[in-house]
Amino acid sequence: MLSQEALTIHVRYPFKYLQSVKSTNDIAREWLEQGAETLSTVISDEQRAGRGRRGRVWYTPPEVALALSVVLKPTLNVAPRVTMLGALAVYDLCQSLQIDGVGIKWPNDVQIHGKKVSGVLAEAAWRDGQLLGVILGVGVNVRNQLSEELAPIATTLANETTQQLDRAQLVGLLVDRIAHWHTQIATNALLTTWRTRLTTLGLSVVVEGVNRRIVGQAVATDQDGALLIKTTDGSIQRILAGDVSLRTQHKD
Ligand code: BTN
Repeated sequence: MLSQEALTIHVRYPFKYLQSVKSTNDIAREWLEQGAETLSTVISDEQRAGRGRRGRVWYTPPEVALALSVVLKPTLNVAPRVTMLGALAVYDLCQSLQIDGVGIKWPNDVQIHGKKVSGVLAEAAWRDGQLLGVILGVGVNVRNQLSEELAPIATTLANETTQQLDRAQLVGLLVDRIAHWHTQIATNALLTTWRTRLTTLGLSVVVEGVNRRIVGQAVATDQDGALLIKTTDGSIQRILAGDVSLRTQHKD
């Protein structure tokens, strides 16, 4: 199990460790509202009601995964880039474990050989109409047992490397990389690095967006990380949030 002592050795920023929580994002939000400083981090061994993107559930069973939420205070204009930072940090974590075949599926799923190993959920907190901060939640599969349903589409770090995986050390590395990319949030370096790590560009895709479904070719991304899709009528559609799948996976 993770422990306060082990995390103290590896995490260089203010942190709270809780053995079991509903969602680390909720605890981090409360901490932000009480005045947490940037990069304050909530870490838990288990989430009982973890949240994924688009209202989905995110499972964090005890002792097998990473679940953490980091308090960030970006300016409003670059706030949409917070999720990129999370994906870039997980990408770097995989690189430091010398794992091959790592890529980012738009918008911010880190995949290894096309299977999801991590997800990122950013939630903004507002006070009196001003952005108080953004909670960056990151979940990473470390040695989860994957169900029959998940095994074809998801993986774990343990499946992809023979290296020893010490979760407290992985948390420390991950928060360090989040801190690094946080310094780059307003730069082109962040955008270009994220873009070069995306595996989605150039593909023929189906995107399930908010209330719409778009079929076409993923041609580019913009400053906010939105995906630009060229549809069959030649128009360019901009998608800020959605799920992408390959067109070949669909019958139409
Ligand atoms: C996704 O891919 O759907 C995003 C998953 C995000 C999961 C993390 S785990 C830590 C943090 N707390 C949550 O409730 N969700 C995020």
